[in-house]
Amino acid sequence: MKTEGLPAVPFSGRKQSLIEDARRDRSSSTSSSPGPSRLGDNFVFEEKHGRVPLNILFTLSNQKNAGFFKTGKIFETFEAKLLHIESRPGRKVKNSSSDLEFFLKCEVHSSDLEVFINSLKKVADDVRTIPEEKVPWFPKQIKDLDRCNILITKFDPEMDCEHPGYSDPEYRKRRAYISELAFGYKQEDPLPTVEYTAEEVATWREVYLKLRSVYPGLACRQFLDGLQQLEAECGYSEERIPQLRDISAFLKERTGFQLRPVAGLLSARDFLASLAFRVFQCTQYIRHSSAPMHSPEPDCCHELLGHIPMLADKEFAQFSQIGLASLGASDEEIEKLSTLYWFTVEFGLCKQNGTVKAYGAGLLSSYGELVYALSNEPEYKTFNPEETAVQPYQDQTYQPVYYVSESFEDAKIKMRRYAANIKRPFAVCYDPFTCRVEILDQPNKIKTALSQMREDLKTLQSALEKLSL
Ligand SMILES: [Fe+2]
Repeated sequence: MKTEGLPAVPFSGRKQSLIEDARRDRSSSTSSSPGPSRLGDNFVFEEKHGRVPLNILFTLSNQKNAGFFKTGKIFETFEAKLLHIESRPGRKVKNSSSDLEFFLKCEVHSSDLEVFINSLKKVADDVRTIPEEKVPWFPKQIKDLDRCNILITKFDPEMDCEHPGYSDPEYRKRRAYISELAFGYKQEDPLPTVEYTAEEVATWREVYLKLRSVYPGLACRQFLDGLQQLEAECGYSEERIPQLRDISAFLKERTGFQLRPVAGLLSARDFLASLAFRVFQCTQYIRHSSAPMHSPEPDCCHELLGHIPMLADKEFAQFSQIGLASLGASDEEIEKLSTLYWFTVEFGLCKQNGTVKAYGAGLLSSYGELVYALSNEPEYKTFNPEETAVQPYQDQTYQPVYYVSESFEDAKIKMRRYAANIKRPFAVCYDPFTCRVEILDQPNKIKTALSQMREDLKTLQSALEKLSL
């Protein structure tokens, strides 16, 4: 059943889009080439006829100060094309403290390869070639999220002339100040507190009251439960903008999710990777006061009203960990996962007691689209990951199509099946005790994970037996 009778609100601008970003990543291949650091990730290898790409590591000892220049001479002699170079202090115990290790990416004539490497061995130590990795870099432990900070700036008020704050220097200054708090944040730091101004709280109040008035009829049960808990225990109200620190502690206790501040719209790969660790990257600035019902980029109204109440639900939190499927996935797969994320976590609908309700944050933070999505206008389709992953999306106006899940359990099962078919040379699982991602690429690792699972099953079986006594 769809809702009627609420006034339709015209769409007033475009929205932030994780998919658009993933598509850009794929077309520019900026995230597919791994290297020893993330700075090296931006290199693209163009294989030319007769030349081969080569990654090479070597050490130059203190006694061979001239080695660096001799190395350069070898490159010149063999017409090796240098693409990237990094250096760091030598790490091997036998190295002296002033030794340097070098990492180079280059192209050489394939016929010269062997003699080129042998020549390098004459002037440098520990010369090693490294095969080009096919798997993009991804975080393995929670502190690696400090490196998941690639931002998409095209929707922020400095870049987007259609942003309501574009011509307001005071707003831009304030947004930049709050973003700076996120730029400087490290995983171990306490979450920053923002003292919001009276104008910012007034914007929040307007959004809060408007949305709050339609939630009871349009939002799913899990959202309403979460919001009620946040109002009772976490200071959610129209009077103040809640602080990330309080919300993060609240979520951690309920579903193991935690927040970290982000300076703006994050790249799809980095955003999805954070979800794998049950970390939600959350903006802290608020939309411009001239457009309280719309923001082209994520802001605290979108995050705190749209996303947070849903993340307080255990089943939904588990569903949101779809980020695990993104780790090491190709750019093409990331684009599909972003589209799935768009039509579920952002714009998803679900059935409850025979009625269609909203659970997507993009809907639950936008009065206009929430009312529209549950009217008779848009088309509804049954959620099916294979089809949804390639559905064209709309970020210039409201979606013409929404996907309806039978339940979160149903959506989760379908997503798991879909994720299992993503091509990767390994499987991953998340260890909540160490906050690490385990890469299951060796038999002994799989055996250890299985034995842990058997122990858990025994505990559950014994609990069942006790209940049936
Ligand atoms: Fe969002």
